[in-house]
Amino acid sequence: MARAAPLRFLLLLPPLLAATLGRQTNRTFEIDYEGDQFLKDGKPFRYISGSIHYSRIPRFYWKDRLLKMKMAGLNTIQTYVPWNFHEPLPGLYQFSGDQDLEYFLQLADELGLLVILRPGPYICAEWDMGGLPAWLLEKQSIVLRSSDLDYLKAVHSWLGVLLPKVKPYLYQNGGPIITVQVENEYGSYFTCDYNYLRFLLNLFHHHLGKDVVLFTTDGADEEYLMCGTLQGLYATVDFGTSVNIIEAFQIQRKFESKGPLVNSEFYTGWLDHWGEPHQKVDTQKIVNSLTDMLAHGANVNLYMFIGGTNFAYWNGANMPYAAQPTSYDYDSPLTEAGDLTEKYFALREAIGKFEKLPEGIIPPSTPKFAYGKVAMEKVNTVEDSLDVLCLAGPINSTYPLTFVQVKQYFGFVLYRTTLPKNYNEPVPLSSFLDGVRDRAYVSVNGVPQGILERSKVLVINITGEAGATLDLLVENMGRVNYGRHNNDFKGLISNLTLGSDILTDWSIFPLDMESAVQNNLISNEMVTSDSFTSTLPTFYTGQFFIPSGIPDLPQDTYIQFPNWTKGQVWINGFNLGRYWPGRGPQVTLYVPSHILVTSAPNNITVLELEGSPCNFQKKCYVEMVDKPVLDGPLS
Ligand SMILES: *[C@@H]1O[C@H](CO)[C@@H](O)[C@H](O)[C@H]1NC(C)=O
Ligand SMILES: *[C@@H]1O[C@H](CO)[C@@H](O)[C@H](O)[C@H]1NC(C)=O
Ligand SMILES: *[C@@H]1O[C@H](CO)[C@@H](O)[C@H](O)[C@H]1NC(C)=O
Ligand SMILES: *[C@@H]1O[C@H](CO)[C@@H](O)[C@H](O)[C@H]1NC(C)=O
Ligand SMILES: *[C@@H]1O[C@H](CO)[C@@H](O)[C@H](O)[C@H]1NC(C)=O
Ligand SMILES: *[C@@H]1O[C@H](CO)[C@@H](O)[C@H](O)[C@H]1NC(C)=O
Repeated sequence: MARAAPLRFLLLLPPLLAATLGRQTNRTFEIDYEGDQFLKDGKPFRYISGSIHYSRIPRFYWKDRLLKMKMAGLNTIQTYVPWNFHEPLPGLYQFSGDQDLEYFLQLADELGLLVILRPGPYICAEWDMGGLPAWLLEKQSIVLRSSDLDYLKAVHSWLGVLLPKVKPYLYQNGGPIITVQVENEYGSYFTCDYNYLRFLLNLFHHHLGKDVVLFTTDGADEEYLMCGTLQGLYATVDFGTSVNIIEAFQIQRKFESKGPLVNSEFYTGWLDHWGEPHQKVDTQKIVNSLTDMLAHGANVNLYMFIGGTNFAYWNGANMPYAAQPTSYDYDSPLTEAGDLTEKYFALREAIGKFEKLPEGIIPPSTPKFAYGKVAMEKVNTVEDSLDVLCLAGPINSTYPLTFVQVKQYFGFVLYRTTLPKNYNEPVPLSSFLDGVRDRAYVSVNGVPQGILERSKVLVINITGEAGATLDLLVENMGRVNYGRHNNDFKGLISNLTLGSDILTDWSIFPLDMESAVQNNLISNEMVTSDSFTSTLPTFYTGQFFIPSGIPDLPQDTYIQFPNWTKGQVWINGFNLGRYWPGRGPQVTLYVPSHILVTSAPNNITVLELEGSPCNFQKKCYVEMVDKPVLDGPLS
C-alpha cells in the first residue's frame, strides 16, 4: 500500500495544474491608484469580461462556451461559486464532475482567459437561497450574512476548504484569477454589518495572502455602497443600459477617488419569473453603453455572457414570492444552449473597436435535433410510490415540521393526516398564516381537492369522511435569493386549519425522487384503471431511440409538454428541471446531448403534479423539438 501512494499522488495531479505550477511565478496583478487602472505584470491592463456560471452548464460544454467567449474578444471571465452546490450537507464537499471548479479554472487558463472569482459566500445569482446552504436554517433564528456566530462558523469552515483550493490559481501564483470578490451587493441587504465584512476580509487574506486584489460590488447608488464597502476591499459598481454611465461611475468615485473604473455587472439581458413576460434587452442599447464605458477606459463585466440552465431544483425566487424558471437564458449573447446570436456578433464588433480580436474560427452553434414525439405511459402516483420514495418511512409529529427539520432540502415532502370528522359539506382547508412553501397538491382518500399556493391561494374547500386520509404533497419551488427574506423555510411552516380545528398528528414523508428515478424503482405493479381521470401527482415514463444512419447524433434537443401542466422531468436519471407551460413563459427545456445514449433506449421520467393529457387523450406524449420557446403564453 505504501509503495503505491506516490504513484497515486501523481495520477491525481491534473496535468494542466502541473504545468501551471511550473510556470514563471514572477507575476503581479495590482491596482494602480495613481494611474486609475489595473497593472498586470507592471503594465496597464483593462479587462473586458463576461459572466458564465459553471454550475449552470454541464462540464461537457465548458470548453465550447469558454472558447466562444474568448472569440468574442473577452480577455476575462467572471464566475460565482455557489456554496450550496459544493457543500450539500455540513462537512460533505463535492468538487468532481459538473462541480469540478478547479478543472473549470484550468480550462479558462488553457484558453488564455483570466478569471474574476466571486466566492460569496452569498452570491444572489437567481440561485437557490443565493447560494447559501439551506442547512444553515437548522438554527431557526440565524441571521444570515451577519456576525451571527453560527453563520460565521459555517462560513469559516467552508472558506477554509474552498479558498486553499483556489489559491494556486491566483494570477501571482501562476494561475488565471486576477481579482476575488467578497460577498455580493452587500449594501442591498439589511444587516449592514461591517464586522462581518471585516471577518471576511481577514479570512480571505488569511487563505489567499495579502497580495490578492479583493473587491466588492453594489448597485450604483450611494445608499448601497455605504453598507457594501469596506476599507481594504476595492469598491466597484454594477448597472445596466438604463443608467447614465457618468453618474454611475461618479458614485464609484465617491468611494474610490482613485483607481480603475469598474462595472462588475453590466446587464446584457434580465431574469425571468414564472407567470411574467420573458425579459429582453435591446442589443443596440447594450452596444452603445458598452462602447461608452470602454471609451472611458472602464473595466466591464458583461452579466451574463451565457446564462445557462437551472437544472434540477437550483432556481431561486424573488419577493413577493415569484420563482425563476428553469432556463437562465437571460437574453445573453450566447443562448442557454451556447448558440451564437446577433447580440454576440454585435458585441464582438463593439469590442473589436478597442481590442484586437483573436484569430481563429468561432465555434459554431451546436446542432439541435428534433427527435419528435415520445409516447408516455402512466406508471404510478406519488402516493402509491411512497414505499420507494421514502424508504425510511414517515416522521410522526403532532404539528407540521419544515423541510429543514426533516433534513430534506430540495424537491418534495408529503404531509399526511386524517380527517377528524365528517365533512359532507365543503369545509375550508386554510393556511391562514400563509405557511405553504410553496405549493401543496391536496387530496382526500386519493381524490384531488385543489392546490394551495404561497401568497396566492391560502384556502381551498374540501370534503371527506372522518378517518379519511388527507395528503398534501408540498413542493419547494426554489428559495428566495435576494433581500431580507433569505431565511426561506420550506414545507408546511405553520399549522393548517380545517374549519375551525388545527390539524394535528401528521406523518411526514421526505421524498427521495432522485434515487427512485435513477434506480428505476417507480413501477406500475399497481393495476391502474383505464377510466382513471384524476389529477393526482403522477409519474409517467417513455422511451426514445437515437435514430441510426444520421451522422453526429446524439445532438442537443429541447423537450416540450403539449397539454401537460406542471412538473419535473428526468432523462436517463438526469434532472432537467421544472416545466410549467401552464403558467409560462418558458415552454421548452434544454436537453444537452451528453445525457443521451445511442446504445440503449433513452428513458424519460415525468412527474406531473396537476394534470397530464394522458387523462383525457387516448395517446399522450412529450415532444423533442429543435428550437427553444422561452416566451410562450402566460396563463
Ligand atoms: C521578475 O520581476 C522583477 C521585478 O519586477 C524583474 O526585475 C525581473 O526581471 C523579473 N524576472 C523575470 C524572469 O521576469
Ligand atoms: C406514525 O403514525 C402512523 C399513523 O398514525 C403509525 O401507523 C405509525 O406507527 C407511527 N410511527 C411511529 C414511529 O410512531
Ligand atoms: C367554500 O365553500 C363556501 C360555502 O360552502 C363558499 O362560500 C366559499 O366561497 C368556498 N370557498 C372557496 C375558497 O371555494
Ligand atoms: C401549531 O399550533 C400549536 C398549538 O397552538 C402551536 O403550539 C405550534 O407552535 C403551532 N405550530 C406551528 C408550526 O405553527
Ligand atoms: C391539447 O388538448 C386539446 C383538447 O383539450 C386537443 O384538441 C389538442 O390536440 C391537444 N394538443 C396536443 C398537442 O396534444
Ligand atoms: C432505459 O431503461 C431500460 C429498461 O427499461 C434499460 O434497459 C436501458 O438501459 C435504460 N437506458 C438508459 C440510458 O439507462
